[in-house]
Amino acid sequence: METQKITVDNEEQYQKAVNYLAAGELVAFPTETVYGLGAVATNEQAVANIFNAKGRPSDNPLIVHIGNAEDVEKYCEHIPAVAKKCMAAFWPGPLTLVMPVKPDVLAKNVTAGLSTVGMRMPEHPVALRLLQLLKQPVAAPSANKSGKPSPTTAAHVMEDLQGKIAAIVDGGATGIGLESTVLDVTHNLPVILRPGGVTAEMLRAEIGEVAVATDTTAPDAPRAPGMKYTHYAPDAPVYMIEPNSEKIRQAVEQLTAQGEQVALLAPTQIGALAPIYFDLGDQADLASNAIHLYHALRACNHTEATIILATTVPQQDVGVAIMNRLQKASGGKTY
Ligand code: TXA
Ligand code: MG
Repeated sequence: METQKITVDNEEQYQKAVNYLAAGELVAFPTETVYGLGAVATNEQAVANIFNAKGRPSDNPLIVHIGNAEDVEKYCEHIPAVAKKCMAAFWPGPLTLVMPVKPDVLAKNVTAGLSTVGMRMPEHPVALRLLQLLKQPVAAPSANKSGKPSPTTAAHVMEDLQGKIAAIVDGGATGIGLESTVLDVTHNLPVILRPGGVTAEMLRAEIGEVAVATDTTAPDAPRAPGMKYTHYAPDAPVYMIEPNSEKIRQAVEQLTAQGEQVALLAPTQIGALAPIYFDLGDQADLASNAIHLYHALRACNHTEATIILATTVPQQDVGVAIMNRLQKASGGKTY
């Protein structure tokens, strides 16, 4: 199959993408977080094709995207009060709400057999327009091969899925660069299963206390099944390192002496202290770091790098999400 590139400059183009989806084909499209790989969420065969194209384990449920907030009632058995507050405050936007699923409406493989479903109304104009024209719910994981960094450009999607999907809607680079926050609202105390663009601080300001599921501090908390798999990893091993020029210089010297080709992912203020360097943007601007991270991790695969050093950020605001992805990409390894 040849993957069609669809641009978004006119209505006819949107209609092409809508027709593919309606016919049960897979279409990648931009959202404000990362590119998604979409299929109609009531079509079990189309959803099965998502898992095949990505090489995704079938026990990892998909997020269902909708173009109108009221549509949650069609797919969710019950909408907790706290979910209503979150929807009013953050939809459309990078927040996925895990709620009790209505039985027998969505394809069973969307939820991987769970009694809950993750719902999200994206904010990207292209995603919204597609969903509103299609008038059906769209299951969409990130449009990468399972285990690889999520795609933030159409070229990234092509790298992983060319020939495996019907079409890709090219809407340019995505805005946030990290996946949505996943919030489980099925318990009295809402739990962040995956940190993202909507931060714990922002949620607390709207709904009060929220818990954060981490690998170590909340062993009994419900998790996003996806978080147990290796993620976001380029081919060369990744090590986290403090954004300290002296430390980085020493590490690069040591590793180079051992015959390694070092790639450094660091903010502008640190600069090119290794033979291969990817700029993560202004050190004080965490959002810029988030935008550049996946692109830089992927770009390492097109270099001779045998080892990757990536600088850490403070665990605050979107820094929590950045550190979560760095932990996964590095397997927790620090230099
Ligand atoms: O920003 C995003 O969320 C992107 C764009 C395309 O919308 N999508 C995305 O999907 O990141 P994916 O499949 O790569 O990640 C979905 C995460 C996984 O960790 C999955 O386990 C979790 O959400 N998840 C989905 N449904 C869930 C449920 N019912 N309960 C718990 N976790 C769930
Ligand atoms: Mg993903």
